[in-house]
Amino acid sequence: MRLDAPIAGRATLSMPGDKSVSHRALFLAALANGTSLIAGANAGDDVAATARALHAAGVRIDRVAPDAYVIDGSEALRDPPSELDCANSGTTMRLFAGFAAARIDATLVGDQSLMRRPMERVAEPLRMLGADVRTTQGRPPVTLRRGTGALRGRRIELEVASAQVKSAILIAGLRAAGETCVIEPAATRDHTERLLAVMGADIAVAPHEIRVRPGALRPIERFAVPGDFSAAFFFLAAGATLPGCDVALTGVGVNPTRTAALAVLRRMGASIDSAREREVHGEPVADIIVRGGAGLTPFEIGHDVVPALIDEIPALCAVAASAHGTSSVRGAAELRGKESDRIATTAALLRAFGVRVDEHPDGIDVHGPARLGAPAAIDTHGDHRIGMSAAVLACAARAPIVIDGARCIATSFPGFDAAWRKAFGG
Ligand code: S3P
Repeated sequence: MRLDAPIAGRATLSMPGDKSVSHRALFLAALANGTSLIAGANAGDDVAATARALHAAGVRIDRVAPDAYVIDGSEALRDPPSELDCANSGTTMRLFAGFAAARIDATLVGDQSLMRRPMERVAEPLRMLGADVRTTQGRPPVTLRRGTGALRGRRIELEVASAQVKSAILIAGLRAAGETCVIEPAATRDHTERLLAVMGADIAVAPHEIRVRPGALRPIERFAVPGDFSAAFFFLAAGATLPGCDVALTGVGVNPTRTAALAVLRRMGASIDSAREREVHGEPVADIIVRGGAGLTPFEIGHDVVPALIDEIPALCAVAASAHGTSSVRGAAELRGKESDRIATTAALLRAFGVRVDEHPDGIDVHGPARLGAPAAIDTHGDHRIGMSAAVLACAARAPIVIDGARCIATSFPGFDAAWRKAFGG
């Protein structure tokens, strides 16, 4: 993918549907008592992997448009005829384990990146509910066995703050006898809880503690997925480094468990406004407007805030290269188990632009302001968020960039290059 040097103009654009919400909408619709329509879903490869996995397990699911699915939740599941390929999508693999545990026999595999990601974190709590879920030395393939078909609810204290693991347990808990209670060490994105409540589940949410009891879910007649905040953030980050630009992103999900990076960017001195705040199917949504300025200050991000901005750290580090002073991230060792080792790949990306960085086991220091020099080309290491962070750095450097291995950007943002051109010209 080639992006030209940016132009500080005016633009209004919408974002792809929220990836996290899209996965959840598909899984929960597949458990509901009737037919749901999910509109504005993320059209990327990850959500398509969830749709394929559901179909292979016997769910009646039709992709009626690139971003819309009709799902009939009332069908019984069947064993998939072969291994289920979750491609690059950790959310597909972990949520599917909760969805299908004790219901079918299946083996879950993925691409090279997914095959090295940690899965015991989801297998172990599902075993505590009575499911037969095994990993291969902690990683995929993950095998599910129907066993007795019975799950028992219990209280589960999670060691890692992970919305995917929490969601897998809550989804399994919908079929477990009695109450399932998940205690999380830190608050993580709560899309599953919100959607379960909208669909009529017996769910009670208290800080760090979520309880669910079995019961029927109402289908969602027409669910409108909000725009993806994590996708929007690359535009906000780039816009913040580009004096004179004025970019409005419409219909973006602004769930407070996701938007901590917005507060960081504002504290750095970026001008960001929100407008038309509203709620759609239990999720807060707004338009977000970024106006580029100068004189950004550095940030300090500690472990307490990490879960609420985990996916935005590479883009925040890209902005930090333009800030006056050293920005630091700590308590983010989780980044090493993402689509790539995101501490290493973020550091490598910044260095390629001439930025001084120090890597730590659980974070990174970025020394700004750097005289940014864009390399002729950079590599994504197969990680969509690293590819889009390269676009942010090129914008800050006012330089064109060639992003090698940009195919992976389509896991979350098909059409990213066209949207970027609309926002920043070229
Ligand atoms: C996600 C949760 C986070 C996040 C990922 C999507 C989700 O992962 O990094 O991109 O949709 O629940 P973890 O649950 O592993 O923290």
